[in-house]
Amino acid sequence: MDEINKFSKRVIRYANLGTSAGNIAIKLFGTKFLNKEHDRNAVDLKNILGGLKGPIMKIAQLLSTVPDLLPEEYVKELTKLQSNAPPMGWNFVKRRMKNELGFNWLDSFDSFEKQPFAAASLGQVHRAEHKKQDIVCKLQYPDMISIVDADINQLKLIFSIYKKIDSSIDTSEIQKEISERIKEELDYNEEQKNISLFQLIFEKSKEVQIPKVFQDISTQRLISMNYLRGYKLLHFKNHPHNIRKKIAINMFKAWYFPFYNYGIIHGDPHLGNYSSDEKGNINLLDFGCIRIFKPSFVKGVIDLYYAIKNNNQELAVHAYQSWGFENISNDMIEILNIWAKFLYSPLMENKVRKMQDTNSTTYGAEAAAKVHKELKRIGGVKPPREFVFMDRAAIGLGSVFLHLNAEVNWYNLFHNLIKNFNEKALNKKQKTVLQKFKIKRNF
Ligand SMILES: Nc1ncnc2c1ncn2[C@@H]1O[C@H](COP(=O)(O)OP(=O)(O)O)[C@@H](O)[C@H]1O
Ligand SMILES: [Mg+2]
Repeated sequence: MDEINKFSKRVIRYANLGTSAGNIAIKLFGTKFLNKEHDRNAVDLKNILGGLKGPIMKIAQLLSTVPDLLPEEYVKELTKLQSNAPPMGWNFVKRRMKNELGFNWLDSFDSFEKQPFAAASLGQVHRAEHKKQDIVCKLQYPDMISIVDADINQLKLIFSIYKKIDSSIDTSEIQKEISERIKEELDYNEEQKNISLFQLIFEKSKEVQIPKVFQDISTQRLISMNYLRGYKLLHFKNHPHNIRKKIAINMFKAWYFPFYNYGIIHGDPHLGNYSSDEKGNINLLDFGCIRIFKPSFVKGVIDLYYAIKNNNQELAVHAYQSWGFENISNDMIEILNIWAKFLYSPLMENKVRKMQDTNSTTYGAEAAAKVHKELKRIGGVKPPREFVFMDRAAIGLGSVFLHLNAEVNWYNLFHNLIKNFNEKALNKKQKTVLQKFKIKRNF
């Protein structure tokens, strides 16, 4: 009986999320879509979004990388919804921990907090003490596999409706990429390997801290790691410029050092996934989603920089091809260049400057709107899958820099990262570290 009660509690938790998402959809879609000629689509979209049950937050955030797919207000509301979701109660947690670590699970801890300390998208996080060290335990809810599967099916429906509303972006590859990455997040063993990989990448760095996993008390559904103390970014909004600048520089390194040296990037620059101490050192968290790129892609990212900088059309074509864009016309290049110029321009001037010169509070909003309009005119583009996380990193970090209002010589930072770039050497380095941790290349 007890079991049934606990099980139904979880179902109610998700069912509630579902209905609230539906309610938000009713409120917001009225304004965004219903007064256009898309009534039918809006109703369908509303029903599908209302039916999402699982890691809504992640899905909503990833969807927000596709322009105009979801109204921004909707993404905001969904995110709130997730963090307000009722947590698993103590009895439930005990049962889950017993399941993961065995009957005497509590013996492994000096103490274990009954109340969760943070929400996770597939579970929740508890603080604890293990061998006199402050740790956190990220514990997954049961049955997430079927819930995530169901959501991925809903995702396909969302994209099929988007296709009817907007032809400027062919989302077929984006959809594959998002589905795959979301599924990977289920396996906490994989996440533990990713943590070890980043440990190695940043082993010499004081500025970027990576958690350490306690393998004896971790499983496929539980990650125990040391607690990294820090503050969310907003805490630093009114701090002196030198600290904001340091955070910005360290964030840049946290994302792009692994990319240009190993072809690997942390896939989720979301506010909850990093914190900073008072000195400006970064704690990088959440390794559920990382992206491993072909070395030729990394080369393509650098090639595109020089193509834009030196106005070299031939190199631009070559670069877009290595990014994975197909059938690139001259028109298309011009449009893609608008976006590329926007992203690369702060890296092109050897001077101290802000990341974005306009007063807009949303990083990239103006450039994105322009590109979107132009794409509609020429009949659309199919972004390659690699584009999703590369673009997300650029946009996510860009808005961090905007919030920090930091003035930095981005040119120097960037050139320091790429000055020794060599595709072959990167390939070898990447292979070696991935083999060491038995991580599969996901390309
Ligand atoms: N090692 C850690 N130290 C301190 N806080 C952590 C740590 N790991 C996770 N957290 C907290 O738990 C939250 C959820 O963990 P995260 O790994 O981001 O889960 P998810 O993959 O579901 O987003 C984080 O936003 C952060 O607040
Ligand atoms: Mg997270």
